[in-house]
Amino acid sequence: MNFDEACEEARKIAFSFSNPLIVHHYDADGITSGSIVVSAFRKEFRNYRVKWIKKLDEHSFSKIKKEKEIIFVDLGSGNEIVDELKDVLVIDHHQPKELKKPQINPLLYGIDGGTELSSSGTAYSVFKNNIDLAIVGAVGDMQYPLIGKNREILEQGVKLNEITVEFDLRLYGRSSRPLPQFLSYSDEVYIPGITYNESNAYVFLQDLGLINEKNALNSYLDLTEDERAVLKKGLINHLIAKGYEQTAKYLIGEIYLLSRRPLRSGLYDASEFSTILNACGRHGMANIGVGVCLGEEEAYKKSLELLKYHKTKIREGLLFARDNICDLGSFLFIDGRGVIDEGIIGIVCGMMLTQFDKKPLVGIAIGEENTIKISTRANNSLISKGLNLGKSLSHSSKNIGGSGGGHKIAAGASIPKDKLEEFLLEFANFISQSS
Ligand code: C5P
Repeated sequence: MNFDEACEEARKIAFSFSNPLIVHHYDADGITSGSIVVSAFRKEFRNYRVKWIKKLDEHSFSKIKKEKEIIFVDLGSGNEIVDELKDVLVIDHHQPKELKKPQINPLLYGIDGGTELSSSGTAYSVFKNNIDLAIVGAVGDMQYPLIGKNREILEQGVKLNEITVEFDLRLYGRSSRPLPQFLSYSDEVYIPGITYNESNAYVFLQDLGLINEKNALNSYLDLTEDERAVLKKGLINHLIAKGYEQTAKYLIGEIYLLSRRPLRSGLYDASEFSTILNACGRHGMANIGVGVCLGEEEAYKKSLELLKYHKTKIREGLLFARDNICDLGSFLFIDGRGVIDEGIIGIVCGMMLTQFDKKPLVGIAIGEENTIKISTRANNSLISKGLNLGKSLSHSSKNIGGSGGGHKIAAGASIPKDKLEEFLLEFANFISQSS
């Protein structure tokens, strides 16, 4: 069976269920893929229930083990525990184990689930609805730039007039923020002297002749093409002058605009959309994220409040991480315990990569039930040298009574609170041997 045939088979299995519980992961890719499945069931007027979880551990398992039919989305592939349940379908893209239950996972068909197809893309390939959510999930899962199957889906989306691709600044709020905030709130791309400093951002824009008292509320999309070019050039020159050549590389790239979503809302740009979903999921409200994906206005309003909170938390986390990051030889380490929430330590590590990209990043936070939450992030250049964070974490956490996994480029784990030193040594040994 090839991947497309397996997707068709998975669709048949899903629709053979009479009232399944759709159990999806809580991050942007989990919320988008869960929403694609929910939407498919709604379109067919079928019964379903929906639930999000952070991870499939004994605690969450105990709550769902009596269910007759479950569709796992963006989780399940790496966990044999699903074989103990009744009727199950797994739709996932994490590194899979051999399961007795049916699973659709690109990695089983020679497609890299870490870089070429996310869970949202896999769910789209199964149900063929909500193509824009497939792109939002891929972007949210750090699968940028879109290649392989993700690219095919993007091209289909363009043909269907649901997605437009532009080459532009990759900062948050191109249409939804006044220019000084557009620059100063930019934490995904850190601009020295400007990120978190609105008055400096204002002066920077003034010096470039792009802002005055009358048009201070204009957004980036209100600028003319020429003015946008001036801003891009100004930002690149600024980054290079401050010694941030690496960051300059992240500044401009492809962006994906979603024509079915309201213009000038935070949902129009796939990357902004995914940030909103992360804000919902990482702060315990993944259900609001599903509402946003399904076009519910009330959910969107709530998501904007969560976004505000999320951005504040990330800002605090990044400022702390920048001052406290330390080099432990084969990797960089951020001890965020007591300062950075476990839900966003991974996001903070991902953002720190735009400045520190020579070694993998390991961040830790206080986890649930006497555990430490580990989040690790790397980039394509480290992966090409043989680094596999998912395998490294799975191996080093298992040996000390924890559990973990994920992708080559982004992975997480939970370990017992008193086993940090052992974990770090295991991890350092494992990555030194493999890369
Ligand atoms: O939590 P974080 O964002 O760091 O997770 C990165 C990736 O690792 C996610 O795709 C997540 O599903 C995976 N992960 C995992 N097992 C864990 C924690 C995270 O497979 N215990």
